[in-house]
Amino acid sequence: RGQVVYDEKQRCWHVLGHSEAAAVLSDPGAFSSDLQELMPQQEDFALFQRGNFVRMDPPRHRKLRGLVSQAFTPRVVAGLEPRIAQVTNELLDGAAGQTRVELIDKLAYPLPVIVIAELLGIPASDRPVFHRWAETFFNRQNIDPDQSLLAAGKEAMENAAPTVREMNAYLLEHIRNRRGNLADDLTSKLILAEVDGERLADEEIIGFLGLLLLAGHITTTATLGNSVLCFEENPGAAAEVRKDPGLLPDAIEEVLRFRTPFPRLARVATRDTRIGEVDLPAGAVVMPWIAAANRDERVFTEPNRFDIHRPRNPQLAFGHGIHFCIGAPLARLEARIALGIMFQRYADISVALDEPVEEANPWLMVNVNRLPL
Ligand code: HEM
Repeated sequence: RGQVVYDEKQRCWHVLGHSEAAAVLSDPGAFSSDLQELMPQQEDFALFQRGNFVRMDPPRHRKLRGLVSQAFTPRVVAGLEPRIAQVTNELLDGAAGQTRVELIDKLAYPLPVIVIAELLGIPASDRPVFHRWAETFFNRQNIDPDQSLLAAGKEAMENAAPTVREMNAYLLEHIRNRRGNLADDLTSKLILAEVDGERLADEEIIGFLGLLLLAGHITTTATLGNSVLCFEENPGAAAEVRKDPGLLPDAIEEVLRFRTPFPRLARVATRDTRIGEVDLPAGAVVMPWIAAANRDERVFTEPNRFDIHRPRNPQLAFGHGIHFCIGAPLARLEARIALGIMFQRYADISVALDEPVEEANPWLMVNVNRLPL
């Protein structure tokens, strides 16, 4: 029972257990991802939502996701390995000779944003702009745990409206330019794609690109910073991975379990329903806390211990079910390459202790904004 808890202040249900969170995420019929009814109607957001398939339910979700899923299969993504290694090396060359390196500025932020921007055909040089957008959505909001979730959402939407407007305009211009100049990138593929025999409108492509651009970098940035922090706190694990880089994929899964970048997801109950032994009414706002599920002692022995040798690690950091992260193979590859190259190039890596590590807002993201090494 303690795994599903009603929160009077936020007026939502927190789902904390692993099987309970997985049950919510595997039942889109009972738990919808479409939260629009709960939010105030706002024109800029409505425009963005048209192609933002993470907030859609079947059957529309499957059709839109299907248009881009081919670009992110493990086989296709493996082809990006040389480019990811090249960008990593170039970024680290930019810090050559320095004994102090700001990991987020120098590598963890630019690497994933360059990779996803190139896939989409968007100029990676505009990344300061994308950074500002990501900060507005994932970092700087002051979420007050005592405020109702809907009130917080309304406030966040009001604060973010100018950014959404700017993002819509930027992406629309990019799509229009691409129409006259198709290339080998995802934007061009979306321009040519058809759903139920119809091409997508420019306005629908906006949400696609915005979703991929934002989801495609900020969480991977978090994973790189989180990995370095976990290795700093667990020097034995770092030494083992340095000796045997074949351990890196399991170590990254453990980082994702231990410091889960998106701690909680959101759904709304479409009908009276039940999670475990708890009855929920139709319309209930449900928050599957995947970060809590990843510390569920019924699934993970000694969950608060960072252990790269777990025999099983069914961590939920990429979600579960039909919305399982489309970018998981890419994120895993970027983390493996970047950390592998860092270990090769630097014989010793440690966090600079004379500056505080700057954490993000943990209600939204588990990551560090700055990590001087
Ligand atoms: C969905 C996490 C990297 C694109 C998700 C979801 C999670 C997640 C938890 C599920 C959301 C839900 O069910 O409501 C992460 C983490 C990453 C990461 C932890 C890095 C370590 C990426 C990358 C991309 C990406 C690199 C870019 C391609 C997406 C998209 C969805 C998604 C498009 C929506 C999928 C759908 O609704 O069907 N991600 N993500 N993510 N992610 Fe990621």
